[in-house]
Amino acid sequence: MIRSFSLLASTAVLASLVAPVQAEEADPGAIVALQFAVSGDHKGVRASGAKGVCLKGSFTPAPDAATLSKAPQFAKPVPVTARFSMGGGNPKISDKTKPTTRGFAMRMMDPAGDMTFVVISAPVFSTKTPAQLLEFLKVRVPGPDGKPNAEAIKAFAAQNPETGRQAAWLNARPVPASFAGTDYWAVHAYTLTNARGETTKAKLKFVAADKATLSDEELKAKPDAFYADELKERLARGPARFDLVAILAEPDDPTTDVTATWPEDERRTKTLGTLAIAGIEPDATCDAATFDPVVDLPVGIAGPADDPMFAIRSPAYAVSLSRRSN
Ligand code: HEM
Repeated sequence: MIRSFSLLASTAVLASLVAPVQAEEADPGAIVALQFAVSGDHKGVRASGAKGVCLKGSFTPAPDAATLSKAPQFAKPVPVTARFSMGGGNPKISDKTKPTTRGFAMRMMDPAGDMTFVVISAPVFSTKTPAQLLEFLKVRVPGPDGKPNAEAIKAFAAQNPETGRQAAWLNARPVPASFAGTDYWAVHAYTLTNARGETTKAKLKFVAADKATLSDEELKAKPDAFYADELKERLARGPARFDLVAILAEPDDPTTDVTATWPEDERRTKTLGTLAIAGIEPDATCDAATFDPVVDLPVGIAGPADDPMFAIRSPAYAVSLSRRSN
């Protein structure tokens, strides 16, 4: 009797955890609290991208970038503060971890307005709405045994199949041998506006000039922390370069769902410029503020007003900053 009651109760709990998630408001503070809870509540670090390296460099626009956008960063070279990171809130995460995104945050600075991108090593994010992200995180919080409920995770994934796309994409590819050896995507659809008021919808991709991946054998032989040393050695030889490429939208491409890809190979593209990472910066340069990809954009470029995953990033990053600064 007791046994069947508890079975029923746990089935009900599981069902409530894994129901397909509808679009609705989700509190950024609640999401950030869960991000910390999932990764072990480490103090003084970011809720995501907790392990990372602060960098300096420059962005040089392509000669015709201004035909797409009147942003000052597409008119002349500007200095850049940037940060490579590992996804998640664990500052001790192994650099070998799969399927975890590598992150790249950057502030291209100009007195008329910074241009900030916070991008990942996959073309998709894991959830399409904040409410879905809340549930995605809830099922991943470790229980008293220190482990998340594997069945709840499986059931949630079955009910919300698009939330598995990022991990599937990463699992199908080798682990990058370097933070600078992989491409990064801004995942959201941006609108570029030129001086004549003409607009272009595009997704943005940072294409690494010097791609490098590890075979399974090579990965096994690596220590848990090798990205920081690799980067120092690489930058001693010269800057690490990325082309900023705009992937131009066709009329039916989804612009409000960061779990959906566009068929990149079939899309027209335009190179907007080259980002050169030149050296390492003290952590303090990156830690004093957030890289806010929503608010910190100049005239001539805007994020999607109707993608709920875009807007919520600003308050979420602010909650994380206030928590890690106290
Ligand atoms: C949708 C696409 C997203 C991408 C590509 C992305 C990527 C990243 C990256 C690369 C970082 C590390 C930044 C750094 O080095 O300072 C980061 C930090 C963070 N992300 Fe996201 N993220 C996304 C969405 C979200 C969403 C929807 C939330 C929460 C609602 C979120 C919450 C956070 C938080 C709280 C931080 C820490 C910010 C800080 O303390 O400075 N992210 N994200």
